[in-house]
Order: sequence, then C-alpha cells, then structure tokens
Amino acid sequence: MADRNRRRFLALAGLGALGLATGLTRPARAQASVVHVYASPYCGCCHQWVNHMRDAGFEVKVRLTEDLDPVKSYFGVAPALQSCHTAVVDGYVIEGHVPARDVARLLAERPQAKGLAVPGMPAGSPGMEQGGASDPYDVLLFGDTGARVYARY
Ligand code: CU
Ligand code: CU
Repeated sequence: MADRNRRRFLALAGLGALGLATGLTRPARAQASVVHVYASPYCGCCHQWVNHMRDAGFEVKVRLTEDLDPVKSYFGVAPALQSCHTAVVDGYVIEGHVPARDVARLLAERPQAKGLAVPGMPAGSPGMEQGGASDPYDVLLFGDTGARVYARY
C-alpha cells in the first residue's frame, strides 16, 4: 500500500470507530448532543464556528486533520455541498458554517435526512463575520437524493 493510501485507510478506520462511538450507525436519541467537528488546524473560521456553537450551549469536540477529503466522502457530503469543516451530531452531518439555531431545530425535528450544509463559506454566516459584510445564504437539508432549503439568511 502506498504511504498516502495507507494513511487514508488508517484515517477511515479511525472514522469508522468514531461512527460507532457517536452512534452514527444507529439513530439513537441522545440525551447530551455532542458535536464532533473535523477541521484543519490552520482554519481560523472553523474555530470561530466552534466558538459560536459553544456559545449556543453545544458541547463540541474538535478533531484536527489536515486532510478533510476522506472525512467528507465518508459522511457522504457531495462536492456541491462542501465547505471547510465537517461535523457530526446525533448521527446528522453538519457541513460548514451552519447557524446553531438550525442545528438545534434539526435535533428537535429529526427529519429523515443526512444533515445540514452551508456550502462554501458565505460572509456573515457564524464564524465568517467580516466586519459587517454579509452574503445571502441558504442552509440546506440534504439526503442521498438531493437537498432542499431549510433556512434562508
Ligand atoms: Cu470556514
Ligand atoms: Cu470551517
């Protein structure tokens, strides 16, 4: 096995174990929803989003990795949905700068879906505040077959 492939394999094996640990493989109704975030150590906005989630009362655990591609493909985040960090909470995937209130709503409503995504990194989304500049953006609820707008900002 080439070194790079071997590293990817090990990373995925680790993700598999984490999936089990976080209940990813069984849709359990968790009492305390821990948000597991995969982010690059060099990504400032990712850590700003972590702060936003913590401020909103979520318990957040961060896993630093420089190679997020295997994470996104493991959790089934299509390229059109991708952002910087990928998070998992109660079996749902949270991709990018999704506002905490939408994560809370997702966990309350528990729709049949893979998760929520804010593709790209729109200015003004949580963790992407840039001196008052803000782009309109949508929070998408996505599944295996597509996505629909869950919230609009
Ligand atoms: Cu970002
Ligand atoms: Cu990020």
